[in-house]
Amino acid sequence: MDNAEVIMIGLGYIGLPTAALIAQGGTRVHGVDINQKVVDTINRGEIHIVEPSLEDSVANAVKKGFLRASTKPAPGNTYLIVVPTPFKDKNEPDISFVEAATKAVIPFLKEGDLYIIESTSPVGTTDKMKELIFQERPDLINKLFLAYCPERVLPGNVMHELVHNDRVIGGIDDKSTKKAIAFYSKYVKGELHATNAKTAEMCKLVENSSRDVQIAFANELSLICDKADINVWELINLANKHPRVNILQPGSGVGGHCIAVDPYFLVSDYPMESKIISTARQVNNYKSFWCAEKVQHTKLKFELDHGRKAKIALMGLAFKPDIDDLRESPAKYIAQRVLQNANNEEYYIVEPNIKEHNIFKLTDYKSAYKNADIIVFLVAHKEFKSLEKIKSKVILDFAGVFK
Ligand SMILES: NC(=O)c1ccc[n+]([C@@H]2O[C@H](COP(=O)([O-])OP(=O)(O)OC[C@H]3O[C@@H](n4cnc5c(N)ncnc54)[C@H](O)[C@@H]3O)[C@@H](O)[C@H]2O)c1
Repeated sequence: MDNAEVIMIGLGYIGLPTAALIAQGGTRVHGVDINQKVVDTINRGEIHIVEPSLEDSVANAVKKGFLRASTKPAPGNTYLIVVPTPFKDKNEPDISFVEAATKAVIPFLKEGDLYIIESTSPVGTTDKMKELIFQERPDLINKLFLAYCPERVLPGNVMHELVHNDRVIGGIDDKSTKKAIAFYSKYVKGELHATNAKTAEMCKLVENSSRDVQIAFANELSLICDKADINVWELINLANKHPRVNILQPGSGVGGHCIAVDPYFLVSDYPMESKIISTARQVNNYKSFWCAEKVQHTKLKFELDHGRKAKIALMGLAFKPDIDDLRESPAKYIAQRVLQNANNEEYYIVEPNIKEHNIFKLTDYKSAYKNADIIVFLVAHKEFKSLEKIKSKVILDFAGVFK
């Protein structure tokens, strides 16, 4: 392959589909990942993640010579940083991956190149990387285009959303913004909204914090309704009949690697100001703890009422319905907590989207439902919705399966 035009650093859930999409359009992409297995898999035209229609796209791009992977960067014209941005112990953002990826590309940068961060990042990260680049390469001051462009795709629909979602694009100056917009306009059909780098960084954090706060409101209602003996699902349905009210659905908490993580980036940097955002995180975390306590009380009551230990089905482990992803999953947290308090009860752990798990012994959802006395719905998977409600069972429906 001749010199690549685009250098993609990080070939995970976001970087690989983006690399494949760009390569599919006939642009040469050099993908970089520190994981040798990931690199080898991609170079065979295969993929290491689950994402519909990605495999075909990668296989095609590799076959035609438009996509290759390596553990090392190479010269190009556009550098995209799409590495993880997790949080550290005290819920502080960890931008060391972005720093390492940036340091790796610095030797290759030349006048006129475009450098874009797509990783979800704390406000000011693009400016920090600008400093880092110009410290090592003062020869490039005012000669590079640097921008931030957050990603907002939904796993499971990434190949479609990469093309059709609107994008927010913020450069360190106007010419960087324009250059980045020109780049994305080659493969994005959604609208491209120009702003500055800090606003674009904040925009991504605010989108996920907004979801977290709204879910926290629904979760708080579920706690209030439990005490008031009111059906929260019916209540929300009725309240939403108001033309200007739109309350989300409660659940067993909030999980995943975005909504349960990104708000901390704001809380960590703006602790005095982000009161609602911080409280929403607490409410959503508390909801999971509360669910685990509720299972504990229910099982003790069952024992008193029936003079024997209960059989308990914990239905769902994923962080949201109909996926196999357990990252930051409240359902998994609740299952772990419940099992820590186990006292010779029989448990059935159910996750229809996973064949086997290294900690949990999984049971088929139908037999778990049939055999258990207490059914705890932690996730509203579509399989569970097909179950008939049985009056003799004690049902803790935290996910609204039978709402
Ligand atoms: N997955 C999503 O749905 C989603 C959505 C929006 C935004 N994001 C953000 O996008 C970024 C990437 O997320 P992801 O889900 O693709 O992560 P991921 O963990 O799936 O992939 C990241 C890849 O980067 C590689 N990597 C780490 N350090 C590297 C380095 N220095 N050089 C080269 N490769 C390196 C890892 O080996 C991994 O394969 C994160 O900031 C995330 O918050 C993710």
